[in-house]
Amino acid sequence: MPKNDNINRIIDHKLFTEDDIHQMCVRLGKQLTEDYAGKKPLIVGALKGAIFFLTDLVREMDVEEEIDFMDVSSYGDGFVSSGKVDLITDLTTDVKDRDVLIVEDIVDTGLTLKYMKDMLKERGAKSVKCCVLLNKEANRATDVEIEYYGSKVGNEFVVGYGLDFMNAFRNIKYIGVLKPEVIKLADNK
Ligand code: IMP
Repeated sequence: MPKNDNINRIIDHKLFTEDDIHQMCVRLGKQLTEDYAGKKPLIVGALKGAIFFLTDLVREMDVEEEIDFMDVSSYGDGFVSSGKVDLITDLTTDVKDRDVLIVEDIVDTGLTLKYMKDMLKERGAKSVKCCVLLNKEANRATDVEIEYYGSKVGNEFVVGYGLDFMNAFRNIKYIGVLKPEVIKLADNK
């Protein structure tokens, strides 16, 4: 089946257009440029969902930076947080005395970010902040601080621009809300 047919069948409505996303990256990039002026932050991308956001965001940041990636998983293949966080792939960079900025696609329970922040602080980072594209506050299960975010979202499951549903639909250019019946179907499997 052609890819576009699939997309129309699973998306309920568009939440953020490509332009909305671009504006968020521009605003956040400007803020981060000011806040990290004179520093050389280590940008830590959370694989895999954050790669689209990270590449757009860093190009809006006028600071000297270094990029590394970490794969931390709390969802597995599903769409409800497992509550358990696993380190799948670690950084290759030493974070000691570095100003670290974690870039994440979406924060939900906050457990993933809390795990990453605590780990990087324990390793001796000078500062650890995070920048997430979407801030879903309804299911927050920890008091992790979200220093920067693009937009708040409701308690809906969103896909596109890196965000996946069962490892698919990351390459949709906009961000859309998944149809509730798609979740129910997968739920009953
Ligand atoms: P947390 O640990 O519950 O904050 O989960 C964060 C991770 O859950 C994100 O990095 C995403 O991979 C995933 N996630 C949470 N909500 C959504 C969503 O609406 N769409 C796609 N992935 C999501």
